[in-house]
Amino acid sequence: MRILITDSLSKEGIRKLSEEGGFQVKQALGLNEEELIKIIPEYEVLIVRSETRVTEKVIRAANKLKVIGRAGTGVDNIDVEAATKKGIIVMNTPGGNTISAAEHTISLILALSRNIPQAHASLREGKWERKKFMGSEVYGKTLGIIGLGRIGSEVAKRAQGLKMKVVAYDPFVSRERAEKLGVTLLELKKLLTQVDYLTIHTPLTERTRNLIGKTEFSLMKKEVRIVNCARGGIIDEEALYEALKTERIKGAALDVFEKGKPFDSPLLKLDSVILTPHLGASTQEAQKRVAIDIASQIIDFFKGGMIRNAVNVSMISPEAQKRLKPYLCLAEKIGELEAQLIEGHPKELEIIYAGELVNLEIAFLTAKVIRGFLKSFLREGEIINYVNALLLAKERGIKVVEVKNPEVEGFNGLISVKLTTDIQEKKIEGTVFGKEISRIVGINGYPLDFLPRGNFLISSNVDKPGVVGKIGTILGKFGVNIGGLQMGRKTRGSKNVSVYILDSFPPRQAIEELLKMEEILDARVVRL
Ligand code: NAD
Ligand code: MLT
Repeated sequence: MRILITDSLSKEGIRKLSEEGGFQVKQALGLNEEELIKIIPEYEVLIVRSETRVTEKVIRAANKLKVIGRAGTGVDNIDVEAATKKGIIVMNTPGGNTISAAEHTISLILALSRNIPQAHASLREGKWERKKFMGSEVYGKTLGIIGLGRIGSEVAKRAQGLKMKVVAYDPFVSRERAEKLGVTLLELKKLLTQVDYLTIHTPLTERTRNLIGKTEFSLMKKEVRIVNCARGGIIDEEALYEALKTERIKGAALDVFEKGKPFDSPLLKLDSVILTPHLGASTQEAQKRVAIDIASQIIDFFKGGMIRNAVNVSMISPEAQKRLKPYLCLAEKIGELEAQLIEGHPKELEIIYAGELVNLEIAFLTAKVIRGFLKSFLREGEIINYVNALLLAKERGIKVVEVKNPEVEGFNGLISVKLTTDIQEKKIEGTVFGKEISRIVGINGYPLDFLPRGNFLISSNVDKPGVVGKIGTILGKFGVNIGGLQMGRKTRGSKNVSVYILDSFPPRQAIEELLKMEEILDARVVRL
């Protein structure tokens, strides 16, 4: 398996991937979009930090790609939607650089307060400007944190150590969580009027783009110093420039910028500004951590089928994945069987999980049912997996309904899939025997019991003597041997559903001949 790394990554991670994972790893730095598009079709995994832009065009060309690994937190340089549509898992390594980013934030707060970079530059120019660089203490001042997540929380703890009062704005954090951190939650406007320092720790989203602009600066005290170590674009840089130039606020420290590298920015010319080149996570400790984290996650995925820290797949614990495992194959086989027995255009897939299944992470099973069902309808090269299964069903207008029912008789767990088309309904039920033996135990309420693997003739016929013999004779004529037979009926002498386990796939003429038998109501050949 081949892995491409297009940004700098700590050697410990690269070593882990090649030595422990046994993968073929290539690092190619500084590629432009065109160059990346050229080579990406050869790789199953792409690892990036924040420099590489993984665009829709790159993803479209990435025909073998299964995972995009982001050694770091923000995934705004990756078109996650395009990756999801293509069934590519996008995973990041949250937490690995939290402390470094929090420490960098605190460094910038202190550097802003004491004009450290400016004073250093002045002294190097041979000046001794003690008055010019008069600073202020952070002690007793109010720090406003926008985004009280991982980094925001660590910044809060450190600021409290400096005896600052900490308030925060984060509509997605509970009051209990904030209270535990000793932080008061405020509405944004109120927070802006109260703080002496403001620091941002949200992702860049449609809601946070230009979150701090002209109106927000107009609400702040004149002494405010602002720090952004999160993402460029959350502060409107033009409004920031105006606010600093007109001394509406005191100072700003930025680690991230609207346009990647701010070489043309007028902010570079202001004395009240400190700029660092996206250094928040640039410590040896953080880089080692995120590189090892992404390497372990990729090894766990390819060697153990375990997904960790994916941003476009619902997450489950390794323990839960283990419990699910026996049912994954069954779910897919039921989907495949539905697809081969279908009549009409699909409208709805209702999946009922019963017994022990109600306690499992059923989203993964649902994805498997959909995968099995859609597999044979996919365009060439189209991939379907737990990342994009629901999306692909929705795009085809198929409603997917999940139902949990703790009651079940005779089985530990039962998956029933009812497919409704514009002309009929078909219900298939399956269970797992022993540790991992999938069995189909019912079709349309007719009790059966067979292993969903191999070639089958599934017929619905009148329940009377001689039918099996006739079917056997026709199949025999075409050289098809019957290896097993399962029959289910609801009442004697009415109708039955028969499943003939075949040693080879019968030709179309055999089915045509079978369908001419007056006792046969329906007959399908199925390959599972
Ligand atoms: P996180 O997901 O743990 O925290 C983000 C917080 O922002 C969450 O609590 C969320 O509720 C909050 N939030 C989201 N939308 C919001 C909104 N509209 N208003 C207010 N709050 C909102 O993320 P994190 O690990 O703490 O990272 C925070 C940011 O820092 C990310 O953008 C990440 O990419 C960036 N980062 C930068 C560097 C760097 O080198 N400068 C390093 C690491 C992380
Ligand atoms: C992140 O989101 O993790 C940071 O921006 C750090 C990085 O890009 O490595």
